[in-house]
Amino acid sequence: MTMLDETELPLVVSPASDHGFALRFLDAGNALPGIRALKPLMLEQLALRRGMHVLELGCGAGDDVRAFARRVGPEGRVVGIDASPPMVAEAARRTAGRNLAVEFAVGDALALELEPGSFDRVRIERLLMHVAGDPATVLRESARVLRPGGRAVVFDFDWDALVIEGADRELTRRIVRSCSDAIRNGWVGRALPRLLRGAGFADVTAVPHGVAIPYDFFGWLVSSHLDEALATGLFTPQELIAWWDELDRAHAAGDFYAALLGIVATGTIAAP
Ligand SMILES: C[S@@+](CC[C@H](N)C(=O)[O-])C[C@H]1O[C@@H](n2cnc3c(N)ncnc32)[C@H](O)[C@@H]1O
Repeated sequence: MTMLDETELPLVVSPASDHGFALRFLDAGNALPGIRALKPLMLEQLALRRGMHVLELGCGAGDDVRAFARRVGPEGRVVGIDASPPMVAEAARRTAGRNLAVEFAVGDALALELEPGSFDRVRIERLLMHVAGDPATVLRESARVLRPGGRAVVFDFDWDALVIEGADRELTRRIVRSCSDAIRNGWVGRALPRLLRGAGFADVTAVPHGVAIPYDFFGWLVSSHLDEALATGLFTPQELIAWWDELDRAHAAGDFYAALLGIVATGTIAAP
């Protein structure tokens, strides 16, 4: 139920429909030291050269698309696709006036309107856990648009590998499991090597990469799910209050720690 105040304005806004929040959340996530440390690892795996054609699926606000464009130069091509029109508009706004060879478009990574064999690289970061469909379809689409010898570089989290220090062990386990199950594809991190091979990629590699989650970001990350879990009776209000009280105390004492494991996976389309 949406609560209304005297002026009939909704007091509760769904995070899914709040684009300002989605952008602040994305920017805050990209500012985490663990995510910042991930970017050069992925760039190294991408091994971009001048003139390459690069596709980013789920490009968000396009910050990495601009980084790719600087590496491939004006003779290259970088395309950023995202399902969210406000994200694509923000990506275009952040790119205006930079004279970079980039294109942004609203599109669905599950059904790309792109020519087969038209890209040298596809990069996919933190899209597959959310995609409203089978992550394998996104990887098959990636394989289709890559030329022979082309490479995909993919990063995603595995939500059962969320570690949290500071609260009751059994309740924390239940909460981690419920968060993982609430993410559309919460286990996609561990599945990436298998999914890449299944989509036709060869020479598949997978390297684990952990991201430490500070307390304020942790609250953003889990709280909307916990509201839903409470509403569906997965936890009692008393359990949740006690859990957060323990975490607040741990944080105040400097003892809170949380981290989430992700996997950087790569695969290549075999040359004929
Ligand atoms: C967590 S953000 C990651 C953004 C970006 N990769 C980055 O590292 O900053 C996930 C993005 O995937 C987009 N997305 C979700 N489903 C999609 C789909 N089916 N096709 C294309 N983009 C999608 C969302 O709109 C969102 O911008």
